[in-house]
Amino acid sequence: MCQHGFMKRIVIAGVTGSIGTQAVEVLADNDEIAIVGMAAGAKARELFELATVAGVTELALASERFAEQVPDGVTLRVGAGSVEALIAELKPDLVLNAVVGYAGLSITRAALENGADLALANKESLVAAGHLVKELAADNGCEIIPVDSEHASLAQLLEGIPADEISNMTLTASGGPFRGWTAERMANVTVDEALNHPTWTMGGKISIDSATMMNKGLELIEAHHLFGVRYENLKVLVHPQSIVHALVELTDGMQMAHMGMPDMKAPIAWAVEGRTRRNIGVAPLDLGVIGSLTFEEPDLMAFPALPIVIEAGTRGGSAPAVLNAANEVAVTAFLQGRLGFGRIIPLVAVCLEQLQDMPGSTFDELDEADRAARALTAEAASAVEVST
Ligand SMILES: NC(=O)c1ccc[n+]([C@@H]2O[C@H](COP(=O)([O-])OP(=O)(O)OC[C@H]3O[C@@H](n4cnc5c(N)ncnc54)[C@H](OP(=O)(O)O)[C@@H]3O)[C@@H](O)[C@H]2O)c1
Repeated sequence: MCQHGFMKRIVIAGVTGSIGTQAVEVLADNDEIAIVGMAAGAKARELFELATVAGVTELALASERFAEQVPDGVTLRVGAGSVEALIAELKPDLVLNAVVGYAGLSITRAALENGADLALANKESLVAAGHLVKELAADNGCEIIPVDSEHASLAQLLEGIPADEISNMTLTASGGPFRGWTAERMANVTVDEALNHPTWTMGGKISIDSATMMNKGLELIEAHHLFGVRYENLKVLVHPQSIVHALVELTDGMQMAHMGMPDMKAPIAWAVEGRTRRNIGVAPLDLGVIGSLTFEEPDLMAFPALPIVIEAGTRGGSAPAVLNAANEVAVTAFLQGRLGFGRIIPLVAVCLEQLQDMPGSTFDELDEADRAARALTAEAASAVEVST
């Protein structure tokens, strides 16, 4: 939707997070893209600091509670719906959605409804409502450009390959901090142990999702929607070095890999800068120094998230939204010390089992499924808490 010849205008939602702050760094020396708006959840001080440094005056904060003084010259929208209002008012060419969780879905919708292309880090939007989000993008003539490293890699690999020459796509997974552990050994790990990701530095929720391997499951649903690929043609391979991000298997039996040092700045820059590449300071890959790249099948006994996700994805309708909501509630309970690590995935499975599928043909219906799954999982989590 960007008009050529003009400076591209971007709004960054989730600017205070891991992806958001890296995007601001990437764009600091890009004089073809202007950050016109920034939004965050609750961290007002960090939002104001980032905006002041970048000279951005149009802001939104989802939380209404903050003590900081709004800087001079800044217009701050506050509360539920404020990020969406910022997008509707500014009508940017591009929105980077780097918000975590289901809260990102209404921001994805606001971007597309206002005709902006979407650089999407918020995978939960696609997991919960991929079919409707894709439809919305098509109806409004907008592009969805993946920021998630595996999907940005796949999108780059797929450029120029005819669809009928592709047999399978593989997402690699680091395996997280508990690769090689048994379920029993993992059952009662601490929050710090689970947050200690071996190759990536990320926000809390995605770090826990990586430790349970739910993250890779969510990425399968994301890939299914982004690339229109069936679940039986999607594979996961554990690759602890996180150098190969994705693989495409071709009909002649050959595979193409996208490789690089694990640094989110590369996919962020590629996505927000219009599928282009430049030197943004990512360390060059020296395979001679890395020495060896290893691959193994995921251990589904120890990490049961993947089959649960594939089941929810295949069921479709409201099931992926239920999966996503149950996982968010269980992860929050774990991060708050109210739930054992080993209970996260079983709780998601119980929720999926107990809630009746809905067709999920409207966003309202998915909101309803999300609310029901949150209530059920919260109740189940507190029952576990009481019984331990
Ligand atoms: N980090 C990575 O390397 C990585 C890689 C691939 C994909 N992703 C995906 O990118 C997304 C962001 O991940 P992250 O690691 O950057 O998370 P993060 O560090 O936790 O940051 C999350 C951001 O979302 C904002 N936020 C939270 N709730 C909000 C709400 N209700 N309204 C508006 N903003 C809200 C937060 O604001 P406050 O800070 O003010 O609360 C923060 O700016 C996730 O979907 C994740 O799966 C991340």
